Amino acid sequence: MVDINEDEKFEMKGFFIVFILFLMAMPSLFGEDFITQKEYAQMLYSNPRGIGCNKCHGEKGEGGIIAHYLQKGKKATLEAPNITQLSKARFFKAMNIPHKVMPTYFLTAQEVNSLYYYVSNVSNVNK
Ligand code: HEC
Repeated sequence: MVDINEDEKFEMKGFFIVFILFLMAMPSLFGEDFITQKEYAQMLYSNPRGIGCNKCHGEKGEGGIIAHYLQKGKKATLEAPNITQLSKARFFKAMNIPHKVMPTYFLTAQEVNSLYYYVSNVSNVNK
């Protein structure tokens, strides 16, 4: 039989209390270092290892005017399309082909997924 004397009981209790305190501190110890999926997606959208998508497509993917210029004496505008209502397939395809105006990015599928999540869910432009 295991015999635990009073001193050992006291020690175990102390250890137990420290352990509980540690568990209680866990969320604040680890929680603050992590950013949410939404924060990550938004960060990537404005800093995707290249020119931020927001610079052309607007803060929420709503689209926008990039520049006004003259073409053969006529006023013309260069616009970036609204990208909040695209299918996932179309979004992925666009991110993997070269464009005339839009730069080519070299993003992983996971990163493109985050960007898609951001413009189609988080921004709520058309909702
Ligand atoms: C320099 C401006 C510019 C930047 C920066 C830019 N885009 Fe674009 N994007 C455009 C333009 C303009 C088009 C229309 C196609 C073209 O002419 O290049 C376009 C097209 C697209 C399309 C296809 C839209 C459709 O209807 O099929 C998607 C998706 C897209 N951009 C997403 C992004 C994402 C995500 C980023 C950031 C990683 C980004 N763009 C950065 C200008 C830009």
